[in-house]
Amino acid sequence: MKFKTLLLLFLFSAVVFSQKKATKKIVSPKEKFVSELMAKMTLDEKIGQLNLPGSDDFVTGQAKNSNIAQKIREGKVGGLFNIKSLQKIKDVQKIAVENSRLKIPLIFGMDVIHGYETTFPIPLGLSCTWDMKLIERSAQIAAKEASADGINWTFSPMVDICRDARWGRIAEGSGEDPYLGSMIAKAMVQGYQGNDLSKNNTILSCVKHFALYGAPEAGRDYNTVDMSKIRMYNDYFPPYKAAVDAGTASVMASFNEIDGIPATANKWLMTDVLRKQWGFKGFVVTDYTGINEMIDHGMGDLQQVSSLALKAGIDMDMVGEGFLTTLKKSLSEGKISIKDIDDSVRLILNAKYDLGLFTDPYRYLDEQRPSKDIFTKENRNEARQMASQSLVLLKNNDKTLPLKKAGVIAVVGPLGNNSMNMTGTWSVASVHEKSVSLLSGIKNAVGNNATVLYAKGSNLDYDATFENNATMFSKSLDRDERNPEVIRAEAIAIAKQADVIIAALGESAELSGECSSRTNLAIPQAQKDLLNELLKLGKPVVLTLFTGRPLVLIDEDKNVPAILNVWFAGSEAGDAIADVLFGDVNPSGKLTTTFPRSVGQVPIYYAQKNTGRPIANNEGKFEKFRSNYIDERNEPLYPFGYGLSYTTFTYGKVLLSSNTITSKAKLKASVDVTNNGNYDGKEIVQLYIRDLVGSVTRPVKELKGFQKIDLKKGETKTVVFEIGIDELKFYNSDLKFVAEAGKFEVFIGTNSTTQNKAEFNLVTE
Ligand code: BGC
Repeated sequence: MKFKTLLLLFLFSAVVFSQKKATKKIVSPKEKFVSELMAKMTLDEKIGQLNLPGSDDFVTGQAKNSNIAQKIREGKVGGLFNIKSLQKIKDVQKIAVENSRLKIPLIFGMDVIHGYETTFPIPLGLSCTWDMKLIERSAQIAAKEASADGINWTFSPMVDICRDARWGRIAEGSGEDPYLGSMIAKAMVQGYQGNDLSKNNTILSCVKHFALYGAPEAGRDYNTVDMSKIRMYNDYFPPYKAAVDAGTASVMASFNEIDGIPATANKWLMTDVLRKQWGFKGFVVTDYTGINEMIDHGMGDLQQVSSLALKAGIDMDMVGEGFLTTLKKSLSEGKISIKDIDDSVRLILNAKYDLGLFTDPYRYLDEQRPSKDIFTKENRNEARQMASQSLVLLKNNDKTLPLKKAGVIAVVGPLGNNSMNMTGTWSVASVHEKSVSLLSGIKNAVGNNATVLYAKGSNLDYDATFENNATMFSKSLDRDERNPEVIRAEAIAIAKQADVIIAALGESAELSGECSSRTNLAIPQAQKDLLNELLKLGKPVVLTLFTGRPLVLIDEDKNVPAILNVWFAGSEAGDAIADVLFGDVNPSGKLTTTFPRSVGQVPIYYAQKNTGRPIANNEGKFEKFRSNYIDERNEPLYPFGYGLSYTTFTYGKVLLSSNTITSKAKLKASVDVTNNGNYDGKEIVQLYIRDLVGSVTRPVKELKGFQKIDLKKGETKTVVFEIGIDELKFYNSDLKFVAEAGKFEVFIGTNSTTQNKAEFNLVTE
């Protein structure tokens, strides 16, 4: 009896306490506003907010008369994307806020991937600056330009780790490394979003493609992904998590499956990992028709896959209108609940609120801004500096570079005089013809001090169909239909008159990017043949290599004296490349992706495991019953972190402040770096760690720190890194993030092959 009374008393006070707590809960103005708005919404209007239709049908026509306009009036559209025109966006926003019942403004998205009209290097190139300030600044400028044109949501950053150069979208990410990738993800989110989303020059970011999109089997786009959880957590998840930690407002689901369930319907991924483990508070959008594609994945009909997606944690349906056309039915059949719908509606309205659209739906539609903020001289100047720092000098024998601004210079190759291909893939807002071609950049640099000759020398390749597939979206290379011999002979004739030959070869802009997977990673044959003929002239040849991915450059590395990897450096490409070619800027870019010796080595990356049978020699000798190839060496042609300068840097020994580290006591690792060449320069000093013994196998090296320093010629600087327990943590087989006691090696050097190292112990209490 006594016990019962006590229990009742306890229960009673618990209820009172929890009610008190509930009444005490502070409702923010946003919550209040959104709740009140949702209370007025019909079911159709709610589902409408989850709909992100394609905007193609009024790109050329009158927005007001389109089918989409009708849907907007009916409250069946939450946002639109990839519309470039302030006026068009204004027209459409007007329909939403003047002609729809609840006057809910739309959000306007776009693939602002590496700049808006001022275009920066493709992300893979930009990552080679290893410069977080520059990268953040690029996103900030992109946000300023895009928002000046009515855009308030970008589908960026793309942070998919990729270790397979066959995959064309490697161009859109930051390479192979989770540590560097995470820092870049954070910098990009901060750049786009700033610290106040309601400012009219900041925009929502959308980290993509969640998750593992960069690891399709055989490098074929949209293909199956099959990966262990331990690899997901240690190697592929970190950049997405970093973007979430940095406060990204939205996340885009990837096309691929994970553990047999497409990401778009993967509840473990979208709810357990993203929301429960990482605490994501924003909204999730599908990729383009991601829901509908699950019919082909074999997950059911449109109604089935739409409800699977909603229940998994998807909030917005891009293009496919599965939500719009089936959710009502699924609700009436009890397949989904009204809470499932409400939760998503709330997140989308929250984002609109954060953007300040409910206060002023025309906040991003100031007609004075485009001419003031877009493609300005200042923005282009900054883009040029970023571009010059993204270039990677792969080879420079006999000091071929830098070139003199004198004599006769021959520019040869299909990429030599072409503005349309300078910005590279995913440059939706760029005005390609305004980009600076290599030829223009060189002419601008030399002025009247040198004679510059040009000939195309070859098409992208002999095969016209291949060229056609690789030059889409108006990025033509102006195919020359004449006999290849004739085209080549023309180039050889001008090259004969020159003191130096600049060969502008490689990939076209759309030979990488979405659905541009390749099985052959060589420079196309027509261009290789041209290069061989040029080399026969016995003159200095500089290969300016245009590419969106690591290429196999065995022949070029053997035969060409100088190779400058220029990626697709953006709207200012030509000027930036000339800055480096003539030594006005000393190259400092370092690779963020491994360049293989042959396609057969792919996937290849520096942070590999040792295996139980590592090879003992590094002379490329085959060892039977060890982990190697009969017909190829193990190591790549150019490793992660590699890149030359016009000067040379030497490294002193790695010194440690202590030989032990504990959960509280960090240690300092330092090294002296000296510039002992003839030019001032920048060096990216890299720190790698190896965990020598673990409860699970650990990589032979992992990047855990870097510093980009300026060194005058003759100067020495001591570079100091702090290492704490966090740098030693990894996900173990229970997927717990832990550091395990034991021995570690720390390496500091100029690229990932450095053997300059010291050893310390982690002591756990
Ligand atoms: C791509 C996304 C992009 C979307 C919208 C898709 O094809 O995979 O990266 O954001 O289209 O344009």
